[in-house]
Amino acid sequence: MDKKLNITVCLGSSCFARGNEENLNFIEDYVEKYNLDANIDIAGSRCEGKCAQGPNITINGILHSNITQEKLKDILDNFRG
Ligand code: FES
Repeated sequence: MDKKLNITVCLGSSCFARGNEENLNFIEDYVEKYNLDANIDIAGSRCEGKCAQGPNITINGILHSNITQEKLKDILDNFRG
């Protein structure tokens, strides 16, 4: 697979408390489980000023708000195809 996913997880205190701690763990576990290290880059960001819609995660430049592990699973499953 030569596709790439760039995932930026907002680690500001609001997003972190609203679920991004678990979301980040979920993504890391998923990457490990499916051996996607070469295809998925994970980065953290500071508060992006959109706390009210959080937790926020940006994937390939697109902001996903109110993100849950269920939504993440859908996105990642789709990516694997
Ligand atoms: S903490 Fe994520 S947008 Fe503010």
